[in-house]
Amino acid sequence: MASHGGSILQAVIDACEDGTIAASVTLVVSNNSDAPALKRAKKHGIETLHLSARTHGNADELDEALTTALGEAKADWILLAGYMKKLGPRTLGAYRNRILNTHPSLLPKYGGQGFFGRNVHQAVLDSGDTESGATVHLVAGEYDTGPILSQVRVQVKPDDSVESLEERVKSAERNLIIATLIELGVQQEARKTG
Ligand code: GRF
Repeated sequence: MASHGGSILQAVIDACEDGTIAASVTLVVSNNSDAPALKRAKKHGIETLHLSARTHGNADELDEALTTALGEAKADWILLAGYMKKLGPRTLGAYRNRILNTHPSLLPKYGGQGFFGRNVHQAVLDSGDTESGATVHLVAGEYDTGPILSQVRVQVKPDDSVESLEERVKSAERNLIIATLIELGVQQEARKTG
């Protein structure tokens, strides 16, 4: 699920296509009908869906439509790759412990409502922190909460702009999500074979 550019999504699609991750992206959902993430998915022949308050005025119906679409797509996991909306209780319940979020900071720092996109990197620069990073975690109900699965650290340079820091974090974040998905696949296989 993605709301904007989809560069993280692209990294996951590429890693699935070249066999780095033993999985496939079966459906890309966005709350934003103009999201470049949807165009990226279509380019790879991946099914896409726009679901938002515009398509479903009622939050419960929206939640149900999402769970249904994920079921039809036979999704095992949900990845929130720059997805800006909260998931509803049906989806959270149906995919318990199988929803991942990637966030461009060292959570719990700079997480929660209001910390999205460049706001996160601006806050890091304003704080004077000398390191930042990215986090992949399982999704609980609230923004950027739930058990942390993996983190990567990057240096904040004295002459960093929001853009340069964002690019360094995103580059590390792409590698982190791929490594985390590989590890989850390994764990899943190990459980299957007992
Ligand atoms: C990523 O840094 C993600 O962690 C954050 O938004 C960014 C998404 O970028 N929530 P993109 O749309 O994948 O390019």
